[in-house]
Amino acid sequence: MSNNRKEFLQQLGAGLVVTGLPAIASAEIFLETGIDTNDFDNGGAADDEKYWKNIARKYYAVSRDYINLENGYYGLQPKPVLQAFQKNITLANTEGARFARKVYPELSASIKKELAAFLQVSAEEIIITRNATEALNIAIQGYPFKEGDEVLINQLDYFSMIEAFRMLEKRGRIKVNAFEMPLLPANEDEIVEIYRKQVTDKTKVILLTHVSNINGLIVPVAKIAAMAKQKGIDVMTDSAHALGQIPFSIAALGSDYVGMNLHKWIGNPIGAGVLYIKKERIKEMTVLFGDVNTAEDNISKLAHFGTTPFAVVMTIPDSIAFHRLMDVEKITKRLHYLKSTWINELEKNAAVEIVTPKNLSCAIASFRIRDKKVAETADYLYKHHNILTVNRALGKDGCIRVTPSVYTSAEEVMKLVAAVKSYVG
Ligand SMILES: Cc1ncc(COP(=O)(O)O)c(C=O)c1O
Repeated sequence: MSNNRKEFLQQLGAGLVVTGLPAIASAEIFLETGIDTNDFDNGGAADDEKYWKNIARKYYAVSRDYINLENGYYGLQPKPVLQAFQKNITLANTEGARFARKVYPELSASIKKELAAFLQVSAEEIIITRNATEALNIAIQGYPFKEGDEVLINQLDYFSMIEAFRMLEKRGRIKVNAFEMPLLPANEDEIVEIYRKQVTDKTKVILLTHVSNINGLIVPVAKIAAMAKQKGIDVMTDSAHALGQIPFSIAALGSDYVGMNLHKWIGNPIGAGVLYIKKERIKEMTVLFGDVNTAEDNISKLAHFGTTPFAVVMTIPDSIAFHRLMDVEKITKRLHYLKSTWINELEKNAAVEIVTPKNLSCAIASFRIRDKKVAETADYLYKHHNILTVNRALGKDGCIRVTPSVYTSAEEVMKLVAAVKSYVG
């Protein structure tokens, strides 16, 4: 038996034992869904089309009516995860309040522990949120800013986090300093130096978008956090697109606040995010949702959300188990390969401007066509070639974001290349 298979079966066992609950332990569904762990054992190199086609065919119910290169919005659930989710929805809607009152509290605590183990942090340092926006808003609005504090952002950060900081600025709590990040930095050290030059003696927090949703730029969080720490500056990391797309450990990031999504690259049903806050920082955080009873140093004080989407949370162990089976190292290399496949072709075309550094990105990359509006280009690709991308705001020209996933073939990506070439003539 291969290690991969052994670990997978152990994972299943762990799920069942930890919950200690009968049929509702959702990881149990894995035993019923016909996963053949051999499918994941051999092959899986970045350019191994046979391997990735088999995974896509057997484990993802992808619509083939169009070519989806807009997987940056959310990732499809693998079939076994979808089955688990459906079972969990049925359970919550047949069992009713008995389930919610008598089973769910213990079950959700064990799920949180499993998620914390996956993230390699303590369960006392995370809360499960509905998404990364909620996670980061709790961090941004709860951070103990003092009058005169400054926050550093740039145009590649996610608009919702920028707006949350701008809202605090409007209320007179902070000053926001925005700078223009070059679209094509040469290397990580150049990015660190840019941040070093931008901080002032009043900078209190740097917002770091780990993987930009606009052009896919991956910033060296650990290096920037180390530079910031020397100056007494905190970094808040938006890892919405990083978790599951690229390998990283929260401990190694050196960031005391990290917001993440489970529905982009982990394959969980939509409606699950995570906020990590380093243990010793929790007590100074103020709550966003009223909670005066929970201890100041207990992270649960930040998670007073009301009724929870039970089935979404219950499916987290299944999505983690499947994601482990897929192996983030293999995923990241494959996504990088698919991205490079289209860039290598289109960067030769003088009419095409690539706005993503190939070596500092993974799945997500963006381009624009000189003298053409990005909205029109995206429309053309969809209407004439059935290829879905999305145009994003970026400076005065914008850009078109292209995001393949693990169920995308190299052939589909090459269809994008052909379509763009036919557009520019
Ligand atoms: C970088 C980044 N941060 C945060 C978010 C917000 O994620 P959600 O809408 O799931 O809260 C996104 C969504 O695309 C994102 O790309």
